[in-house]
Amino acid sequence: MTSVPCDIRAIRAALLGWYDAHGRSLPWRAGPGEAARDPYRVWLSEVMLQQTTVPHATPYFLTFLTRWPTVGALAAAPDAEVMAAWAGLGYYARARNLLACARAVSANHGGVFPDSEAGLLALPGVGAYTAAAVAAIAFDRPANVVDGNVERVMARLFALESPLPAAKPELKRLAASLIADDRPGDWAQALMDLGATVCRPRTPLCDRCPLTAQCAAFTGGRPERYPLRTAKAERPRRFGTAFVLFDDRGRVGLEQRPAKGLLGGMLGLPTTDWGLPDMAVAPPIATDWQAAGTVTHVFTHFALTLEVSIATGEGDLLWTPVEDARAGLPTVFRKALDRAVERRKGVGTP
Ligand code: ADE
Repeated sequence: MTSVPCDIRAIRAALLGWYDAHGRSLPWRAGPGEAARDPYRVWLSEVMLQQTTVPHATPYFLTFLTRWPTVGALAAAPDAEVMAAWAGLGYYARARNLLACARAVSANHGGVFPDSEAGLLALPGVGAYTAAAVAAIAFDRPANVVDGNVERVMARLFALESPLPAAKPELKRLAASLIADDRPGDWAQALMDLGATVCRPRTPLCDRCPLTAQCAAFTGGRPERYPLRTAKAERPRRFGTAFVLFDDRGRVGLEQRPAKGLLGGMLGLPTTDWGLPDMAVAPPIATDWQAAGTVTHVFTHFALTLEVSIATGEGDLLWTPVEDARAGLPTVFRKALDRAVERRKGVGTP
């Protein structure tokens, strides 16, 4: 059983004071003098920020906000436009959930987000983390918002000796022990900012931390040891071939992927199935395909080595200017396209 730091009030006061002075100024946060946080912005940012960093997600957030300034505008957007704008953020099921949620808020809630954790949780595509984050940040509800950053801060503050992932419920319980009715939204974001900028994964900057006096890991001398983790099984590797077919007008042939499954509903390059090496390779058209090298990409559950084959020709594909394709393709296919374009330049093909 972990010992609980005795002075919760001191921890809260120190962290909220630090947040007032050092919290990041981010586009979904209410600025000085702005009373309310816009739930649409908060929700959109939280969905984007799952599994990616603030610097990576911010340009996407700003683009979405410019193109679809309200939840109603997003709800009315064509699926394909939203999916293409999401390209590069990964986890494409999330973009489909985003649309489902926007449409439910528009159709069933008059375009107004529910203001409680339970109400948010009932929306399609909104999970426990997003519901807690939006309830806390947009509506100042004392919800327990626990992401990877918060887990790390808790593991260190309490020097938790049990390893992740089994320690998750315990870390959640510890985070809950620090929640209060005073400034719950700021509290959630203060923990996130501390985790992202000070209590960093490999190199915590303890000399800048407002919580060292209460931090059991700091006191123990090895804060970077936490959180402990059970050794992960290595990701399996899959293999496949992507076919990059150019025409003679600067376009590349794309396909719409099936709605269900990995990268579902996104644009993609024609590709084989991804599995064992040396699987049968059936190109989309019979022509003189040239090998252009390989690219690799890491998905959540496997790593992929993709052979890139290139050719020039015609076929029943979605012919898209190369630059538009780059902007609208998921990262794995953008890597393959870039490889193909480089190779083409290298061999001087027109
Ligand atoms: N990561 C996820 N949500 C965040 C937020 N609201 N502020 C900063 N980092 C975050």
